[in-house]
Amino acid sequence: MPLTSKSYLTTGHQLSRFIHQVNTLEFENESVVLTFEEKTMQARIYQRLILVTLILCNISCSGQSPEKTSSVRLVGGPCEGCEGLSEYGNKTLSSIDTLPLFKEHEPKLKVTGTVFKKDGITPAAGVILYIYHTNRQGVYQTKGNETGWAKRHGFIRGWVKTDLNGQYTFYTFRPGAYPDKSEPEHIHLTVKEPDTNEYYLDDYLFDDDPLLTPSVRKKQPVRGGAGIMRPVNENGLLVIKRDIILGLNIPDYE
Ligand SMILES: [Fe+2]
Repeated sequence: MPLTSKSYLTTGHQLSRFIHQVNTLEFENESVVLTFEEKTMQARIYQRLILVTLILCNISCSGQSPEKTSSVRLVGGPCEGCEGLSEYGNKTLSSIDTLPLFKEHEPKLKVTGTVFKKDGITPAAGVILYIYHTNRQGVYQTKGNETGWAKRHGFIRGWVKTDLNGQYTFYTFRPGAYPDKSEPEHIHLTVKEPDTNEYYLDDYLFDDDPLLTPSVRKKQPVRGGAGIMRPVNENGLLVIKRDIILGLNIPDYE
């Protein structure tokens, strides 16, 4: 981790103050000729000063405690916008969420499934999922007063935390493709496991989307499992079921 200017100032200040105190003692006793033993003692004091400084620097330079550094596993590579996962504010997360404008738009969509651990068998509880998508016109809709990543993701977004059985459900509506039709309809998905940094998974894509060409299908990295789903109409509600396997095709996961 880079050394912060604050930590330099802190440790540097402590060191210079300590040296000043030692030098002041020397000055007050300059008429006294130091013996070999006293000079040796003085050298040891300086050595210990440097050691203490290095220890202080090692702690403060990381910006956090060593325990915290070692407890957060860094996986998944770069992820622009994954920080949006933490922007749920005071909201108490549950395993079900309904996104804004659900009532206003058609077709309505239910996204549901189970999150499993890497073995693909054990349900993963307490995992946060963050999704966001465009409106029916293919625009990440904003109100104008957004802060953080909502400026780019818009306000059509939601969060869930998997239950004890690893299950989750979002209610939303089917997004539109970008106005230039450069990409198929998609829902972005970011995941956060306890003690692991957030990382993105394959977008939810719609198997019946004409923009989902064979070449686009081949490009999918299959992070966390396949994201291409065929929606099923259940009494007017489109339902897609997607199970997720944590860590699957995620760099540095193991
Ligand atoms: Fe997008």
